[in-house]
Amino acid sequence: MSHASPVRQATSLFQERFGSGPTVVASAPGRVNLLGEHTDYNGGPVLPFALDRRTVVAAAQAERWEAISATDNEVHALDPECIVPGLWTGYLVAVIRILQKSGIAMPTARLAVASSVPVGAGLSSSAALTVAAARALTGLAGRRVPPGVLAEVAYRAEHDEVGVHCGHMDQTIAALGRAGHAMLFETASGTVHHLPLPGRVWVFDTGVSHRLTGGHLNERRRECEEALRQVIENGVAVRHLAEITEADLPALLRAIPAPWNARIRHVVTETIRTRAAAHALAARDLPGLGRLMLEGHESLRADYQSSCAEADLLVESLVHHGALGARLTGAGWGGAVIALLPEEKTARIVAEVQEAYRGTYGRVPLVWATTAGAGVRSEK
Ligand code: GLA
Repeated sequence: MSHASPVRQATSLFQERFGSGPTVVASAPGRVNLLGEHTDYNGGPVLPFALDRRTVVAAAQAERWEAISATDNEVHALDPECIVPGLWTGYLVAVIRILQKSGIAMPTARLAVASSVPVGAGLSSSAALTVAAARALTGLAGRRVPPGVLAEVAYRAEHDEVGVHCGHMDQTIAALGRAGHAMLFETASGTVHHLPLPGRVWVFDTGVSHRLTGGHLNERRRECEEALRQVIENGVAVRHLAEITEADLPALLRAIPAPWNARIRHVVTETIRTRAAAHALAARDLPGLGRLMLEGHESLRADYQSSCAEADLLVESLVHHGALGARLTGAGWGGAVIALLPEEKTARIVAEVQEAYRGTYGRVPLVWATTAGAGVRSEK
């Protein structure tokens, strides 16, 4: 990851490697999720915000499809007929295919990508890429497509084409994020509320890279589908796990065996916590928000079983040294822990937590702070 602005990087990469400048430049942010993990594909609420780090796609019409990224610095031919599994260019091909299926006539193009969003850290680098690419390519097609539609294109690209059985959170915040605000997104109704998010949130990267495709997330999603089937079989008629009421929960937890009952408990309690967190944020009650984040982490660890030892250690150490709240963010099984830190103590807490982590894992975790950034935009 370079510290040069990714806009400048993508533009000069394009110029250097393709011999002329891009005609369209678009960018979209990564995200962290304050609360509401694994609720988005269960009809529940999520509370993410956009990072102040972005992925930039520079593009221009060309005779054939080609792409380069500042990370691997290699020109790749893109074949819209075929997604090569595991290659980053698969996300671009997926967006091209969905736009073609939607009847948007784009010219063939060359694309250059640069990003300040860390990859594999659970910060939605893929949604930043697909949403930025959707904006750039629709721009080349001469279309001004609303952000909500770009989010849907990016979602279908990742879900239908790449085959990651994600929900709608990441693409929605990458498209609709508002600077200085978190977003309460009720995934069942599609309702969005922007809530002011004062100050900074700290990101502690476990350095454990998670791989989504075909992995744990798809497995949990299948478990949730099976859990829903069992809930309905037990006489509780709901469309999503998040619709289960607190009153119905105890009997269902007794009737349904592990691991499905634990998955249900996570989704139902996380749904309650996320709405409470939105209230805490609206009331500027950061200690209250922090407590809910800690409960959320415990639920991921014990019930959803999507945490990892490195994240658990970071959360424990953060609490011990005075954080208001901390939790694993994103899909899990690695990735990053986010924390709310009292401003006057940040330097000391960061140093002590890094030291504790080094003591156990022999390396210092990358730590940085972010404010809430803006959603997708054109850069020129
Ligand atoms: C990934 C998915 C999201 C969401 C989270 C877990 O980031 O892409 O849709 O399910 O995991 O909350």
